Amino acid sequence: MNDRWQNVLDGSARWAVVQGDCLDVLRDMPDGCVDAVVTDPPYGHKNNDDGDLIHRRECALGKAKVAEAPRAIANDGVEAHELYRTVMPILRRILKPGCCCCCCAGGGGGDPQLANWSLWMAESFSFKQIVVWDKGPMGMGWHYRRSWEAILVGQKPGAACAWYDETNTVENIIRPGQYGVRKIIPDADEHPTPKPWELARHFIQLHSRPNDVILDSFAGRGWVGEAAIRTGRRYIGVEIDPFWAAKSRERLVDVESVGDLFMPATARARIEPKGVLL
Ligand SMILES: C[S@@+](CC[C@H](N)C(=O)[O-])C[C@H]1O[C@@H](n2cnc3c(N)ncnc32)[C@H](O)[C@@H]1O
Repeated sequence: MNDRWQNVLDGSARWAVVQGDCLDVLRDMPDGCVDAVVTDPPYGHKNNDDGDLIHRRECALGKAKVAEAPRAIANDGVEAHELYRTVMPILRRILKPGCCCCCCAGGGGGDPQLANWSLWMAESFSFKQIVVWDKGPMGMGWHYRRSWEAILVGQKPGAACAWYDETNTVENIIRPGQYGVRKIIPDADEHPTPKPWELARHFIQLHSRPNDVILDSFAGRGWVGEAAIRTGRRYIGVEIDPFWAAKSRERLVDVESVGDLFMPATARARIEPKGVLL
């Protein structure tokens, strides 16, 4: 059943993770049915051509086996850029006027990805902001090691911007630990590019209200779903990889069963993605 998103739109379900190619799934969704998009597409970094750095290290330590590790990211080659450019106008169509698309876009590198992705977002949206997430300690690389990631924010024209912060203190940078956002270094058997759910919560709370519908077209392990459920929003996730779609569903069932943000620390630990929190 690839149309479970309908139950979320009509309110008979709070969330759905749909397994499939988002280009197919989103095509069937009606115009203006979603209140915010928060998403993290493949960056085209060929993360898993022969196992990523963390995976290779864990193999060397005897903690993981290449054959067992389900770490390949679909569409993580040059095709990622075409996918991104293709999905932007589709996301615009299914968002309500004034509503926003918040899209992770990498932290720079040897190609002008961030520049291209910004321009391609601006083809479909009124370009609103580049938010920098300062991840703190150094990331992978050699010269200019990656220590931040950008989240591009575009607004669908036609109405006032969906913006629900009343403090007027929100900056276009998220500092290490701010809003509870800390980078995750995953174990070798986890999704290779996990984002903290608190990062999604930040954008969800700025751009939507309780019961609104949040879409993640590249759902991965369900980071946006966790944030949506915890903040009382409805959620539709689309993930092409059956393994990660299933893992996402497991995670969200867990999140629902544990309850809200004020859960005790022991229960909280149960639903953290496995890995190191920095
Ligand atoms: C960068 S990862 C997102 C990880 C996510 N931030 C998390 O914390 O789990 C991108 C995800 O998009 C998925 N993907 C790639 N192409 C897709 C497509 N056409 N439709 C839906 N999902 C796709 C990949 O399988 C991968 O899980």
